[in-house]
Order: sequence, then C-alpha cells, then structure tokens
Amino acid sequence: MKTLIVYVSEHKKNTEKIAKAFAEVIDADLIKPISCELNSFDNYDLVGFGSGIYHSKFHASLYRLLDHCSPIKGKKAFIFSTSGHPEHKHLNNYNKELEAKLVSLGFTVIGNFSCRGHDAWGPLRLVGGINQNKPDSTDIENAKQFAKNLKSKFSDI
Ligand SMILES: Cc1cc2nc3c(=O)[nH]c(=O)nc-3n(C[C@H](O)[C@H](O)[C@H](O)COP(=O)(O)O)c2cc1C
Repeated sequence: MKTLIVYVSEHKKNTEKIAKAFAEVIDADLIKPISCELNSFDNYDLVGFGSGIYHSKFHASLYRLLDHCSPIKGKKAFIFSTSGHPEHKHLNNYNKELEAKLVSLGFTVIGNFSCRGHDAWGPLRLVGGINQNKPDSTDIENAKQFAKNLKSKFSDI
C-alpha cells in the first residue's frame, strides 16, 4: 500500500503532528498541495487529504488542487483534520464538501479522522487560545491506531 499524505498546517502545526503520526505507521510520503503536480497521485494506492479547519472549511489549497485533477480510477482516499471545535453532523460537517469532491473525482473514501487542535485565532489569542497542548499524546495514539486500521481496511478491499 503506497500512501501519499497531502496536508496543510499553517496555524499551529497541529495537523502536521497528525500527518506525521500517520506517516510513521504507514510509511507514507508527505507533501503540501502547492507542491503537487498533475501526476503526483500516479504512484500511490491511497492518498490522505488533511488540514486545519479554517472558517469551517479545509484549507482552500486542497480544494484548488482537486479542482485541477483529472478523474481518478482505482484509488482510495482518507480525510483528516484538526479543529478548535468538534464537527457536527448537521451544523458544521467539515468533511462533507471535501468528501463529495473526492468521490466526484473517482476516489473511494475509506476513512476520516479528526481531533481538536490548539486554536488561538482572533480574540482567542488574548487568552492563550483553547485546547492548549492539543493534539496531545492520546490524539497521536488515536491517529496511529487509525493508520493501522487503514492498513487492514485497505487489505480487506
Ligand atoms: C483563520 C482561522 C480560522 C479558524 N476557523 C475555525 C473554524 O471555523 N472552526 C474550528 O473549529 N476551528 C477553527 N480554527 C481553529 C483551527 O482549526 C485549529 O487551530 C487547527 O488545529 C489548526 O490546524 P493547523 O495548526 O494544522 O493549521 C481556525 C483557525 C484559524 C487560524
């Protein structure tokens, strides 16, 4: 299972900690959307897409990348994020738009992972932010377990 992880982590490097935990377990390559080329996915079976959540969305460069992709055949994907607040199925389902985009391109989405990240955006900065020290060691362990599960899910398909 050759895996590429495409991620953006520009606020506090929270998402990068998660991406690196995945990469350690599944021996994935890491890349930023801005460095991706048209054939970047060619040599991979599984591609992870992740970022912090900014104004209720994944980073715009992930969407821009996918907007320029040709239809994909036979590749699996997963989605991951860190955010100040948990997603809510109806109010702020962060994954929905990105997942729909991936599916419309032809990816099969086989999992998603999210956890809280230190959030010191805007006025929160004045009080040191919320979720200080997140992602913490439990989140990193959960991320590693998620990656292990991906591996076994992948081999089941
Ligand atoms: C400009 C900006 C907007 C944000 N908007 C949201 C939001 O809409 N919902 C939320 O839960 N967290 C929000 N956050 C918090 C980030 O999602 C959180 O800090 C995340 O862990 C950042 O990931 P990163 O360090 O990998 O960039 C925002 C942070 C920034 C800087």
